[in-house]
Amino acid sequence: MRKKTVRDLDDEQVRDKRALVRVDFNVPLDDDGRITDDTRIRASLPTIELLLERKARPVILSHLGRPKGKPDPKYSLQPVSQRLQELTGCEVIFVESTDSDEAIQACRNLQPGQILLLENTRFLGGEEKNDPRLARALAELGDFFVNDAFGAAHRAHASTVGVAEHLRPAVAGLLMQTELDYLGGALANPKRPFVAILGGAKISGKIDVIEQLLPKVDGLLIGGAMACTFYRAMGLETGKSLVEEDRVPMAKNLIERAGMRLTLPHDAMVAPSLERAKEAKAVSRNAIPSDQAMFDIGPQTAASFSRAIASAKTIIWNGPMGVFETPPFDAGTRAIAEAMASATEKGATTIVGGGDSAAAVSEAGLEKKMSHVSTGGGASLEFLEGKKLPGVEILDEAD
Ligand code: 3PG
Repeated sequence: MRKKTVRDLDDEQVRDKRALVRVDFNVPLDDDGRITDDTRIRASLPTIELLLERKARPVILSHLGRPKGKPDPKYSLQPVSQRLQELTGCEVIFVESTDSDEAIQACRNLQPGQILLLENTRFLGGEEKNDPRLARALAELGDFFVNDAFGAAHRAHASTVGVAEHLRPAVAGLLMQTELDYLGGALANPKRPFVAILGGAKISGKIDVIEQLLPKVDGLLIGGAMACTFYRAMGLETGKSLVEEDRVPMAKNLIERAGMRLTLPHDAMVAPSLERAKEAKAVSRNAIPSDQAMFDIGPQTAASFSRAIASAKTIIWNGPMGVFETPPFDAGTRAIAEAMASATEKGATTIVGGGDSAAAVSEAGLEKKMSHVSTGGGASLEFLEGKKLPGVEILDEAD
């Protein structure tokens, strides 16, 4: 069922009203508190700008980091407030509290064209417990609720779920809608061939996604260290590579069930250790030396995965192909990013799950060449696992 969005609201529901907007401004900061990547702020600008255009007064809530229910200056949204002001060109009023009299007063005084940003919701003990008292207090801050925080939609917190129990309409923001349209569209109605690429260190973290995608895809390409658990299931030597011994039977079972749809790397980049990356060499998967470990897919695999991507119409990617922070083990991940960028140009729908794969795409400067790069790490993974996201479930359904 499609969720109602901020576009579906009538003029009288929006004009001159206070829009309580939950966003995910959980951005990375350096040691001096400077924002190192403002993608998540930019991603919610269309929602904030639409609200301003429709003459609503946005009151913004977000978490930042994991401050454990009490104020911690390291996780203040103050730097975000400055960046938001630069990006919108609007006056952003920042209040260093969230459910206080000061916040309520600032909400009342908010003028058309201004934006109010309240302090980190996770400074409040009741936030992560979804405390009903806090949820009711937050609901007082707006006349309607907009959830644009896809990245936090898998969390049932007071500012994502509890508040929506007391404040209606409760609708999706434009970023939330875009995320649901791309990820949901790929799962429900993909253009075919539909190819999924999964990577990362551990099969245990991806097993539910594999199970969910397997019946839907035409091809499932597996890279990253988790390929080694499959190698072990095939009886291959894996040397010093990371293998989840307790998941070997599961890998065996998946290989049997998937048949031709599952492709594992044919070759691997190996080295004695990450510290000795300079000694990296490509070997066939049948020839991993006993004193070495796999740190990336090999060049033949990068080429064959790229060909599979080039012939697909929908491609979804989650998880790096190797230890992409340590060259030359970034080559496999980079090749996938480049193949996806070319596929987008040829008209395919390319979707990058959040977290590490999104970081790799951004490092390669290719994020604009993807149809969609998710802003959600855990949230996109849970969505692909077929789980219901509580922050989405609670929103009003479209008529
Ligand atoms: C994220 O970075 O994935 C979201 O902001 C959620 O953060 P959390 O994992 O701390 O809940």
